[in-house]
Amino acid sequence: MQLGFIGTGAITSAMVSGLCAADAGQRIWLSPRNAGVAAKLAARYPGAAVAGSNQDVLDACETVVLAVRPPLARGVLAALRFRPEHRVVSVMAGLARRQLAELVAPAGQVTRAVPLPAAAERRSTTAIFPPDPVVAALFASLGSTVEVETEDEFEALAAATATLAAHFTFSDSIAAWLTRQGVPAAKARDYVAKVILGLAAAAVDAPDRSFRELAGECATPGGMNEQVLRHLTENGVFERVSEGLDGILRRVRAAAPGVTPPE
Ligand SMILES: NC(=O)c1ccc[n+]([C@@H]2O[C@H](COP(=O)([O-])OP(=O)(O)OC[C@H]3O[C@@H](n4cnc5c(N)ncnc54)[C@H](OP(=O)(O)O)[C@@H]3O)[C@@H](O)[C@H]2O)c1
Repeated sequence: MQLGFIGTGAITSAMVSGLCAADAGQRIWLSPRNAGVAAKLAARYPGAAVAGSNQDVLDACETVVLAVRPPLARGVLAALRFRPEHRVVSVMAGLARRQLAELVAPAGQVTRAVPLPAAAERRSTTAIFPPDPVVAALFASLGSTVEVETEDEFEALAAATATLAAHFTFSDSIAAWLTRQGVPAAKARDYVAKVILGLAAAAVDAPDRSFRELAGECATPGGMNEQVLRHLTENGVFERVSEGLDGILRRVRAAAPGVTPPE
């Protein structure tokens, strides 16, 4: 498959790195901006080449990933001529599928996706809407794919990716506390990272158990885990998580009208 990218920035770099690691024979056409990033990718991966223009990417490829920043999307897309056989994959936040379909007409297949930076290490779990076997296979090669049936569900999963920095900050607060107790910083960081790895593996390995059940198993009545969990719960930490995500959903839905506003 000849795969093209419009917008060669952070997420394109991650996807191209992962795709070329998965299949050294993958043919990829990159748009010329950002010139430095495109040149680095083309130098690193024999299958990747920099096209002369955005239109040249479209002319060379049937599957095209759109990865410019959302405010630029309309201007960039309006200047391009798509073909009916184009399969368009938008990783851009804030443009509903209906709006995208108008902007890339007459392209026949339009899919939204929300890859994570871990695509570079082929560890991204990527939500796509609507289900599409070709796009699902593309993102499966970068980790795993979650196909969703409605755009509301897609927007909710996309909003949940706004918690990545908070996950790291929660871990940082534990590691920082450990260093205040005299644990060397590198040791504290490594310890916390490995604890999280073990917890994530336990959750992935037990798909029938909810996170709440897994938490309950750790929180023995009267034990230390129960004490910290109660302290954080009583101080509203977990309610704030939900409120923060509501704010993200309001923001993305305001930018992509046509998707249900939150309650
Ligand atoms: N980063 C992530 O983890 C992530 C994850 C999922 C989805 N996304 C989405 O992916 C999109 C890109 O995000 P990003 O983080 O990769 O942003 P980024 O690093 O800023 O990349 C955007 C790229 O678009 C290029 N560009 C600007 N004008 C262009 C034009 N007229 N034609 C072609 N390319 C042009 C920029 O080049 P210049 O530098 O020359 O301006 C830059 O290389 C956003 O819509 C974002 O919502 C990002």
